[in-house]
Amino acid sequence: MSGVLWAKPGIDIDADIQRFCAGDDVVLDREFIRYDIRASAAHAEGLRNIGVLDERECASLLAELERLDADVAEGRFLLDAPFEDMHSAIEARLIERLGDVGKKIHTGRSRNDQVLVASRLWLRDRLRHAEALCLEVVEVALLRAEREQHLPLPGYTHLQRAMVSSAAMWWAGFAEAFLDDAERLRATTRWIDANPLGSAAGYGVNLPLDRDHTTAALGFGRLQVAATYAQLSRGKFELAALEALGSALLDLRRLAWDLSLFTSAEFRFVSLPAKYTTGSSLMPNKRNPDVVELMRGAYASVAAAKIEVEQLLSLPSGYHRDLQFSKGALVHGFGRGLAALGLLPGLLRELLWIEDRMRAAIEPSMYATDLAVELAASGQPFRDAYREAANPARWAERDPQASLRARTSPGAAGDLQLGVLAARWEAMKQG
Ligand code: ARG
Repeated sequence: MSGVLWAKPGIDIDADIQRFCAGDDVVLDREFIRYDIRASAAHAEGLRNIGVLDERECASLLAELERLDADVAEGRFLLDAPFEDMHSAIEARLIERLGDVGKKIHTGRSRNDQVLVASRLWLRDRLRHAEALCLEVVEVALLRAEREQHLPLPGYTHLQRAMVSSAAMWWAGFAEAFLDDAERLRATTRWIDANPLGSAAGYGVNLPLDRDHTTAALGFGRLQVAATYAQLSRGKFELAALEALGSALLDLRRLAWDLSLFTSAEFRFVSLPAKYTTGSSLMPNKRNPDVVELMRGAYASVAAAKIEVEQLLSLPSGYHRDLQFSKGALVHGFGRGLAALGLLPGLLRELLWIEDRMRAAIEPSMYATDLAVELAASGQPFRDAYREAANPARWAERDPQASLRARTSPGAAGDLQLGVLAARWEAMKQG
């Protein structure tokens, strides 16, 4: 059976050219097909609501779509050649099982709005998943910040020893970072939560399609009103989603960098449970932090996906086949990004600080700033105090925990305000 829906007498289908046009689309569409099935069901109900399908026709389409969905979910139906794409596969299946009723499903729709709605539903689920993972990271980070308030950790600038910091300050920084990321992901979910189904090929159809029904049935926050905007938003929304994911992955990249330094023998501040490390095929002595490195590297895939989508968008309005490539970018970027974020909460929960190594890396020079500020607080002009505190003869061993307790500027170790962050987290959890 040829999956080409638009086959007409007199038009030859060249296998090489068809293969070029389909590219890896059939395989990629495995990611999206269940969303296409869901949207097809909503579309069938919409057609029933305006009298294009009768009750029985609609019911048999819905039942068949449900069966197809179960077949896909359980691996009995595999999207593959000879179909051009998932849209063709779904329609072919409905026609094969239901005959003329199956041939009615495509009334008033186009693959152009089908691919939009399926990829948007897919994206919405993934953004929500990314947000939930960020909130889980925040939860772990806040819990550990609370517990590790008095655990000194050297603070660096330029990778040079700077001031005493704490494990809690490290955690609090990432807690707030991932809170912002979760918020951005949520805002982006809202931004893209608009129903493009019913825009057809991009210019509507001469039927009063029940777009409000499909909007509600698919759980969209709003209708994407202008049929012409639906196509303009393809790629634009994908780009926004990748940017939101990218900001979480950027924070993850910096966190992973810290851990790859902190687990090296030179620092040895952190030890990771063995399951997060791998051995070397040659060097019997090695345990390598591969997981952390792959987490760091995942940003590259998100960034690449962003650039690919952005480049595809150099287009006039309306549908263009170029946009098909945006699906590959999405699957790759979200695949890598979510896989990396998915392992993060567990890794953070389990990482162990090596406290004596952290303490040993704190040297008297790291109290020079404390001294300068103390002198300034007791009346000496700061610039004079600074000069005095710069003198190594004035540096002495101190109690790092006392230094942390005295760091009372809001947001620093002595006044972390974890409650403020916890309240933000709580509010986001409530929805
Ligand atoms: N695979 C196509 C895509 O992703 C589906 C839409 C095809 N539409 C068309 N007019 N050829 O864009």
